[in-house]
Amino acid sequence: MHLYLCRPHWVTDPDHLARCHDLLDEEEKARHARFKFERDARLFLVSHALVRTALSDFAADVSVHPAAWRFETNAYGRPRIMQEDGAPGMHFSLTHTHGLAACVVASNADVGVDAEAESRNLDTATLAPRIMSPSELARFQSASAAVQRKQFLSLWTLKEAFTKARGLGLNLPVEKLSFFVNGHTIHFGCPAEVEDKPGSWEFRLMQPTPEHYLSLVTRFVRETTPALQSKWYVPLVGERTTEQSPALLASTHPTRGVATSSPS
Ligand SMILES: CC(C)(COP(=O)(O)OP(=O)(O)OC[C@H]1O[C@@H](n2cnc3c(N)ncnc32)[C@H](O)[C@@H]1OP(=O)(O)O)[C@@H](O)C(=O)NCCC(=O)NCCS
Repeated sequence: MHLYLCRPHWVTDPDHLARCHDLLDEEEKARHARFKFERDARLFLVSHALVRTALSDFAADVSVHPAAWRFETNAYGRPRIMQEDGAPGMHFSLTHTHGLAACVVASNADVGVDAEAESRNLDTATLAPRIMSPSELARFQSASAAVQRKQFLSLWTLKEAFTKARGLGLNLPVEKLSFFVNGHTIHFGCPAEVEDKPGSWEFRLMQPTPEHYLSLVTRFVRETTPALQSKWYVPLVGERTTEQSPALLASTHPTRGVATSSPS
Protein backbone atom coordinates (compact mmCIF):
# COMPACT_ATOMS: atom_id res chain seq x y z
CA MET A 1 0.00 0.00 0.00
CA HIS A 2 1.50 3.32 -1.06
CA LEU A 3 0.60 6.87 -0.16
CA TYR A 4 1.62 9.38 -2.85
CA LEU A 5 1.87 13.01 -1.72
CA CYS A 6 2.39 16.11 -3.86
CA ARG A 7 2.55 19.86 -3.25
CA PRO A 8 0.69 21.59 -6.12
CA HIS A 9 3.19 24.50 -6.16
CA TRP A 10 5.85 22.02 -7.38
CA VAL A 11 4.06 21.88 -10.73
CA THR A 12 4.03 25.37 -12.23
CA ASP A 13 6.11 25.08 -15.41
CA PRO A 14 3.68 25.55 -18.38
CA ASP A 15 5.21 22.65 -20.33
CA HIS A 16 4.95 20.33 -17.30
CA LEU A 17 1.34 21.41 -16.74
CA ALA A 18 0.56 20.79 -20.43
CA ARG A 19 2.02 17.29 -20.23
CA CYS A 20 -0.07 16.60 -17.10
CA HIS A 21 -3.14 17.87 -18.97
CA ASP A 22 -2.41 15.44 -21.82
CA LEU A 23 -2.86 12.55 -19.34
CA LEU A 24 -6.48 13.43 -18.52
CA ASP A 25 -9.51 11.88 -20.22
CA GLU A 26 -12.21 14.00 -21.86
CA GLU A 27 -14.37 14.16 -18.74
CA GLU A 28 -11.43 15.27 -16.58
CA LYS A 29 -10.48 17.90 -19.18
CA ALA A 30 -14.06 19.23 -19.19
CA ARG A 31 -14.07 19.45 -15.37
CA HIS A 32 -10.66 21.15 -15.42
CA ALA A 33 -11.93 23.75 -17.93
CA ARG A 34 -14.83 24.70 -15.63
CA PHE A 35 -12.65 26.05 -12.79
CA LYS A 36 -12.76 29.85 -12.51
CA PHE A 37 -9.55 30.31 -10.52
CA GLU A 38 -6.13 29.21 -11.75
CA ARG A 39 -5.15 27.89 -8.29
CA ASP A 40 -8.18 25.55 -8.14
CA ALA A 41 -7.67 24.40 -11.75
CA ARG A 42 -4.01 23.60 -11.05
CA LEU A 43 -4.86 21.68 -7.86
CA PHE A 44 -7.37 19.58 -9.83
CA LEU A 45 -4.91 19.01 -12.68
CA VAL A 46 -2.01 18.04 -10.40
CA SER A 47 -4.29 15.76 -8.33
CA HIS A 48 -5.62 13.87 -11.33
CA ALA A 49 -2.16 13.60 -12.90
CA LEU A 50 -0.97 12.32 -9.51
CA VAL A 51 -3.65 9.59 -9.45
CA ARG A 52 -2.76 8.44 -12.96
CA THR A 53 1.01 8.44 -12.47
CA ALA A 54 0.68 6.89 -8.99
CA LEU A 55 -1.42 4.01 -10.37
CA SER A 56 1.16 3.34 -13.10
CA ASP A 57 4.00 3.52 -10.56
CA PHE A 58 2.23 1.15 -8.17
CA ALA A 59 1.30 -1.32 -10.93
CA ALA A 60 4.66 -1.11 -12.72
CA ASP A 61 4.47 -4.86 -13.47
CA VAL A 62 1.40 -4.43 -15.71
CA SER A 63 2.86 -1.41 -17.60
CA VAL A 64 -0.22 0.79 -18.01
CA HIS A 65 0.54 4.28 -19.34
CA PRO A 66 -0.80 7.01 -16.99
CA ALA A 67 -3.12 8.29 -19.73
CA ALA A 68 -4.59 4.83 -20.31
CA TRP A 69 -6.35 4.36 -16.95
CA ARG A 70 -10.12 4.50 -17.24
CA PHE A 71 -12.47 5.13 -14.36
CA GLU A 72 -16.11 4.60 -13.49
CA THR A 73 -18.03 6.04 -10.55
CA ASN A 74 -20.58 4.47 -8.23
CA ALA A 75 -23.97 6.06 -7.48
CA TYR A 76 -22.36 8.29 -4.80
CA GLY A 77 -19.50 9.52 -6.95
CA ARG A 78 -16.70 7.22 -5.80
CA PRO A 79 -14.27 6.64 -8.68
CA ARG A 80 -12.71 3.26 -9.28
CA ILE A 81 -10.53 1.68 -11.92
CA MET A 82 -12.39 -0.15 -14.68
CA GLN A 83 -11.57 -3.75 -14.00
CA GLU A 84 -10.70 -4.68 -17.58
CA ASP A 85 -7.73 -2.30 -17.37
CA GLY A 86 -5.52 -5.13 -16.19
CA ALA A 87 -5.07 -4.33 -12.51
CA PRO A 88 -7.66 -6.47 -10.71
CA GLY A 89 -8.12 -5.76 -7.03
CA MET A 90 -6.35 -2.40 -7.14
CA HIS A 91 -8.08 0.43 -5.30
CA PHE A 92 -7.28 4.08 -4.78
CA SER A 93 -8.57 7.15 -3.03
CA LEU A 94 -7.78 10.80 -3.73
CA THR A 95 -7.90 13.95 -1.64
CA HIS A 96 -6.93 17.50 -2.50
CA THR A 97 -6.87 20.58 -0.38
CA HIS A 98 -5.07 23.92 -0.38
CA GLY A 99 -1.36 23.08 -0.69
CA LEU A 100 -1.61 19.29 -0.87
CA ALA A 101 -2.77 16.41 -3.07
CA ALA A 102 -2.67 12.84 -1.76
CA CYS A 103 -3.52 9.52 -3.35
CA VAL A 104 -3.46 6.12 -1.64
CA VAL A 105 -3.18 2.97 -3.78
CA ALA A 106 -3.55 -0.58 -2.46
CA SER A 107 -4.11 -4.13 -3.66
CA ASN A 108 -7.07 -6.09 -2.32
CA ALA A 109 -8.17 -3.41 0.11
CA ASP A 110 -10.83 -0.79 0.63
CA VAL A 111 -9.04 2.51 1.09
CA GLY A 112 -9.97 6.08 1.89
CA VAL A 113 -7.88 9.21 2.40
CA ASP A 114 -8.79 12.73 3.42
CA ALA A 115 -6.65 15.78 4.12
CA GLU A 116 -7.43 19.26 5.37
CA ALA A 117 -5.32 22.38 5.66
CA GLU A 118 -5.08 23.78 9.17
CA SER A 119 -5.83 27.22 7.69
CA ARG A 120 -9.19 26.12 6.28
CA ASN A 121 -11.97 28.41 7.43
CA LEU A 122 -14.35 26.07 9.27
CA ASP A 123 -16.98 27.10 11.79
CA THR A 124 -16.05 24.32 14.22
CA ALA A 125 -18.51 25.33 16.95
CA THR A 126 -21.48 25.02 14.54
CA LEU A 127 -20.21 21.93 12.73
CA ALA A 128 -19.09 19.90 15.77
CA PRO A 129 -22.61 18.95 17.02
CA ARG A 130 -23.53 17.88 13.46
CA ILE A 131 -20.60 15.57 12.79
CA MET A 132 -19.57 14.30 16.24
CA SER A 133 -20.91 11.48 18.40
CA PRO A 134 -21.99 12.39 21.97
CA SER A 135 -18.67 11.16 23.48
CA GLU A 136 -16.61 13.02 20.86
CA LEU A 137 -18.62 16.19 21.46
CA ALA A 138 -18.18 15.97 25.24
CA ARG A 139 -14.38 15.70 24.84
CA PHE A 140 -14.38 18.49 22.26
CA GLN A 141 -16.40 20.90 24.40
CA SER A 142 -14.20 20.39 27.46
CA ALA A 143 -10.95 21.08 25.52
CA SER A 144 -9.09 24.40 25.12
CA ALA A 145 -9.56 26.35 21.86
CA ALA A 146 -6.15 25.25 20.49
CA VAL A 147 -6.83 21.57 21.27
CA GLN A 148 -10.36 21.86 19.86
CA ARG A 149 -9.00 22.87 16.45
CA LYS A 150 -6.67 19.86 16.36
CA GLN A 151 -9.41 17.51 17.60
CA PHE A 152 -11.85 18.83 15.04
CA LEU A 153 -9.51 18.41 12.06
CA SER A 154 -8.51 14.93 13.27
CA LEU A 155 -12.12 13.77 13.60
CA TRP A 156 -13.20 15.46 10.37
CA THR A 157 -10.48 13.79 8.30
CA LEU A 158 -10.95 10.38 10.01
CA LYS A 159 -14.68 10.47 9.26
CA GLU A 160 -14.24 11.72 5.70
CA ALA A 161 -11.60 9.05 5.01
CA PHE A 162 -13.95 6.34 6.30
CA THR A 163 -16.83 7.77 4.24
CA LYS A 164 -14.62 7.67 1.17
CA ALA A 165 -13.46 4.11 1.82
CA ARG A 166 -17.10 3.04 2.08
CA GLY A 167 -17.94 5.12 -1.02
CA LEU A 168 -21.30 6.22 0.41
CA GLY A 169 -20.79 9.99 0.37
CA LEU A 170 -23.37 11.94 2.35
CA ASN A 171 -25.43 8.77 2.90
CA LEU A 172 -23.18 7.68 5.75
CA PRO A 173 -24.23 9.16 9.13
CA VAL A 174 -20.82 10.45 10.28
CA GLU A 175 -22.19 11.50 13.68
CA LYS A 176 -22.66 7.78 14.47
CA LEU A 177 -18.96 7.05 13.97
CA SER A 178 -17.05 7.46 17.21
CA PHE A 179 -13.30 8.00 17.40
CA PHE A 180 -11.10 8.55 20.43
CA VAL A 181 -7.52 9.56 19.73
CA ASN A 182 -5.80 8.66 23.00
CA GLY A 183 -2.11 9.51 22.74
CA HIS A 184 -0.82 7.55 19.75
CA THR A 185 -3.77 5.13 19.65
CA ILE A 186 -7.00 5.55 17.70
CA HIS A 187 -10.08 3.77 19.05
CA PHE A 188 -13.03 3.40 16.71
CA GLY A 189 -16.59 2.25 17.28
CA CYS A 190 -19.98 2.56 15.60
CA PRO A 191 -23.40 0.86 15.63
CA ALA A 192 -23.74 -2.40 13.69
CA GLU A 193 -26.22 -0.86 11.26
CA VAL A 194 -23.45 1.48 10.07
CA GLU A 195 -20.58 -1.05 10.14
CA ASP A 196 -20.81 -4.55 11.55
CA LYS A 197 -17.04 -5.12 11.78
CA PRO A 198 -15.52 -1.86 13.06
CA GLY A 199 -12.40 -3.77 14.17
CA SER A 200 -11.59 -4.75 10.58
CA TRP A 201 -10.69 -1.14 9.73
CA GLU A 202 -7.24 0.29 10.29
CA PHE A 203 -6.95 4.07 10.75
CA ARG A 204 -3.91 6.33 10.63
CA LEU A 205 -3.77 10.02 11.47
CA MET A 206 -0.79 11.89 10.01
CA GLN A 207 0.70 15.31 9.47
CA PRO A 208 2.39 15.25 6.06
CA THR A 209 3.31 18.93 6.51
CA PRO A 210 3.01 21.19 9.57
CA GLU A 211 -0.10 22.74 7.92
CA HIS A 212 -1.99 19.56 6.98
CA TYR A 213 -3.86 16.80 8.76
CA LEU A 214 -4.36 13.61 6.79
CA SER A 215 -6.29 10.47 7.70
CA LEU A 216 -5.96 7.16 5.97
CA VAL A 217 -8.22 4.14 6.42
CA THR A 218 -7.84 0.62 5.05
CA ARG A 219 -9.58 -2.72 5.24
CA PHE A 220 -7.79 -5.66 3.69
CA VAL A 221 -9.40 -8.66 2.14
CA ARG A 222 -6.49 -10.85 3.24
CA GLU A 223 -5.49 -11.56 6.85
CA THR A 224 -2.13 -9.81 6.84
CA THR A 225 -1.97 -6.05 6.44
CA PRO A 226 0.78 -4.89 4.06
CA ALA A 227 3.03 -2.10 5.28
CA LEU A 228 2.31 1.48 4.30
CA GLN A 229 4.96 3.22 2.25
CA SER A 230 4.76 6.97 1.66
CA LYS A 231 6.35 8.89 -1.19
CA TRP A 232 6.50 12.55 -2.06
CA TYR A 233 5.85 12.30 -5.77
CA VAL A 234 5.72 14.69 -8.73
CA PRO A 235 3.58 13.56 -11.70
CA LEU A 236 5.77 12.72 -14.74
CA VAL A 237 8.93 13.46 -12.75
CA GLY A 238 8.90 10.81 -10.03
CA GLU A 239 9.77 10.53 -6.38
CA ARG A 240 11.09 13.58 -4.54
CA THR A 241 13.38 12.20 -1.87
CA THR A 242 14.42 15.51 -0.29
CA GLU A 243 11.15 16.00 1.60
CA GLN A 244 10.44 15.08 5.21
CA SER A 245 8.34 11.94 5.61
CA PRO A 246 4.85 12.46 7.06
CA ALA A 247 4.60 12.43 10.86
CA LEU A 248 2.39 9.60 12.14
CA LEU A 249 0.38 11.12 14.99
CA ALA A 250 -1.79 8.13 15.89
CA SER A 251 -3.03 4.82 14.58
CA THR A 252 -5.23 1.86 15.47
CA HIS A 253 -1.97 -0.18 15.45
CA PRO A 254 0.67 2.36 16.56
CA THR A 255 3.58 -0.09 16.23
CA ARG A 256 3.11 -0.50 12.45
CA GLY A 257 4.29 3.00 11.46
CA VAL A 258 4.94 4.29 7.94
CA ALA A 259 7.87 3.16 5.81
CA THR A 260 9.38 5.75 3.55
CA SER A 261 12.30 6.20 1.24
CA SER A 262 12.42 9.92 2.12
CA PRO A 263 14.52 11.21 5.05
CA SER A 264 12.62 11.27 8.35
C1 LIG B 1 -17.57 13.40 -1.72
C2 LIG B 1 -16.65 13.66 -0.56
C3 LIG B 1 -16.20 12.33 0.00
C4 LIG B 1 -15.47 14.53 -1.10
O1 LIG B 1 -14.61 14.93 -0.10
P1 LIG B 1 -13.97 16.39 -0.04
O2 LIG B 1 -13.34 16.51 1.31
O3 LIG B 1 -14.95 17.42 -0.44
O4 LIG B 1 -12.86 16.43 -1.14
P2 LIG B 1 -11.51 15.59 -1.26
O5 LIG B 1 -10.56 16.43 -2.02
O6 LIG B 1 -11.03 15.07 0.03
O7 LIG B 1 -11.93 14.34 -2.16
C5 LIG B 1 -12.38 14.52 -3.47
C6 LIG B 1 -12.18 13.23 -4.22
O8 LIG B 1 -12.87 12.17 -3.57
C7 LIG B 1 -13.30 11.23 -4.55
N1 LIG B 1 -14.73 11.00 -4.32
C8 LIG B 1 -15.80 11.71 -4.74
N2 LIG B 1 -16.92 11.14 -4.27
C9 LIG B 1 -16.55 10.08 -3.54
C10 LIG B 1 -17.27 9.08 -2.81
N3 LIG B 1 -18.59 9.05 -2.73
N4 LIG B 1 -16.55 8.12 -2.17
C11 LIG B 1 -15.21 8.10 -2.23
N5 LIG B 1 -14.47 9.02 -2.92
C12 LIG B 1 -15.15 9.99 -3.56
C13 LIG B 1 -12.96 11.81 -5.92
O9 LIG B 1 -11.74 11.24 -6.33
C14 LIG B 1 -12.77 13.27 -5.60
O10 LIG B 1 -11.85 13.90 -6.45
P3 LIG B 1 -12.37 14.78 -7.70
O11 LIG B 1 -13.53 15.59 -7.24
O12 LIG B 1 -11.19 15.61 -8.08
O13 LIG B 1 -12.74 13.79 -8.76
C15 LIG B 1 -17.34 14.43 0.57
O14 LIG B 1 -17.62 15.71 0.21
C16 LIG B 1 -18.59 13.79 1.15
O15 LIG B 1 -19.53 13.40 0.52
N6 LIG B 1 -18.63 13.71 2.44
C17 LIG B 1 -19.75 13.16 3.14
C18 LIG B 1 -19.44 12.95 4.57
C19 LIG B 1 -19.69 14.14 5.41
O16 LIG B 1 -20.79 14.49 5.77
N7 LIG B 1 -18.60 14.80 5.81
C20 LIG B 1 -18.65 15.91 6.69
C21 LIG B 1 -17.42 15.95 7.53
S1 LIG B 1 -17.10 14.50 8.48
